[in-house]
Amino acid sequence: MNDFATVTQFAPQVRPLSDAGGAAIIGIDLRSSISEKVGEMLRSVWRDYLVLVIRDQNIEEQHQERFCKIFGNLAGLRSKVYRTAGNAKSHALWVANAEDSSRPTAVQQGEMMFHIDQCYTERPSKASTLYAVTIPEEGGNTRFSNLIKAYEGLSDDWKMRIEGLRALNYFDYQANATTRPETIDPNGPQFLHPIVRTHPETGQKSLFVNRQMTMFIEGLGADESDEILNYLFEMIEDPTNVYEHVWKVGDLVLWDNRCTAHARTYYNPKESRLLRRMTVLDENPVK
Ligand code: SIN
Repeated sequence: MNDFATVTQFAPQVRPLSDAGGAAIIGIDLRSSISEKVGEMLRSVWRDYLVLVIRDQNIEEQHQERFCKIFGNLAGLRSKVYRTAGNAKSHALWVANAEDSSRPTAVQQGEMMFHIDQCYTERPSKASTLYAVTIPEEGGNTRFSNLIKAYEGLSDDWKMRIEGLRALNYFDYQANATTRPETIDPNGPQFLHPIVRTHPETGQKSLFVNRQMTMFIEGLGADESDEILNYLFEMIEDPTNVYEHVWKVGDLVLWDNRCTAHARTYYNPKESRLLRRMTVLDENPVK
């Protein structure tokens, strides 16, 4: 006989959120264990909608970890700065508007340009999650661009023009998240990735560049590289390719970091904003 928790999770409902992806999963309590059948259903909905939104949760770190494990192995904290704060075994990074030395915290205030988590490394995360603990009165929404849709919206000429090209992705931890870095520190984190990526599970092609971290296209002159990248950034940021998530406390959001880029809208940095972030390792190389 199933326990109550398992019964309530037997058939969660799926509600699509926009033409650019995103689906709300209704009727699931992440404090309870999730059956293999529901796990399979979540992976399948995630493949189709790229962003999953689960509202009204009241979860601790271990519940978020367990949820992440439905999609793969948990990633540790990559930056030494984060690893030394608080509990060294924790997989959680707190995205906050203010410093907190008691736990690994990424202080991020106000607006943030479109980016792909860890695209400046060889193996960016497969999935990222954020759980909302405190949310400002207004703004601080997270915008998710569907990079498959952005690629599919290109003309055949553009698809041919960018096929096989690679671009340098770079991250400056000190940089303002609303402007592109003007110089590249040769010792800073950076990696060349294909501009067009193929999803390892669905075989779909997507763009794999973003305004915050993609600096230039390998082997092209600066003018041509800028012309191509600016055009692709505009496609990625076109509202028809974007689902905008307006946070409520208790929301858990998971996105496919292989084929989405995300950005944050402005919020008053004096207002508290606190989200717990955990990511899932990618077992496949970027191709
Ligand atoms: C992030 O990109 O790391 C955070 C996004 C957000 O705060 O909405």
